[in-house]
Amino acid sequence: MLKMAVLVSGGGTNLQAVIDAIADETITNARIGVVISNNANAFALERAKKAGIQTEVLSPKSFDNREAFNYALLDLIQSYEVNFIVLAGCLLTIPEILVENYPNRIINIHPSLIPSFCGKGYYGLKVHEAVLARGCKVTGATVHFVDSGVDTGTIILQKAVKVHYGDTPSELQQRVMEQAEWEILPRAINLIANDKINADDSYLRIREQHTEERTK
Ligand code: GRF
Repeated sequence: MLKMAVLVSGGGTNLQAVIDAIADETITNARIGVVISNNANAFALERAKKAGIQTEVLSPKSFDNREAFNYALLDLIQSYEVNFIVLAGCLLTIPEILVENYPNRIINIHPSLIPSFCGKGYYGLKVHEAVLARGCKVTGATVHFVDSGVDTGTIILQKAVKVHYGDTPSELQQRVMEQAEWEILPRAINLIANDKINADDSYLRIREQHTEERTK
């Protein structure tokens, strides 16, 4: 059983997609043990409460320094005895000690086709503004393992989304969420929960997908 801590910062639409996927059994063998936000006003917390999931708020602003926050975050997550961490619209810089304690056990959803438009400074609407400014015809979303870098971990799933002429950044963000993020995050969690992922492979073979390719 995958027991997850889901880290959020904002509206929580990706969290909602995971909650709904567990409810309709698109995701099996997994449950959310706690939702943690660095932002007390995050609507994601309301979504969690409505689903009967325990919530916590922990902000770096409440600590004298970042190191103290990092250790408090690790202690809080460990107190829930989870075995997996999902970053779902989480704007926190993930501390090295968390990655060290949960190697290949943390995933993130990023609203672009990594390695494009990712890394420091690329989050939320900024990603879609950059995609439009570059004149891209296609964008999308990526689920990847979290390592010590920013958006640099092994890619698990990606899905492409068309850019429409005249899109605003908000319109593009909404399409990327609806057509890509809310599909591939639950799918990735289900693959991991049902042991279909080889995290140690550099290419990251997905057993069911790999088998299909081999039989063609
Ligand atoms: C989404 O664009 C997501 O890709 C990014 O943060 C935005 C809000 O996500 N990480 P959510 O609605 O809080 O899940």
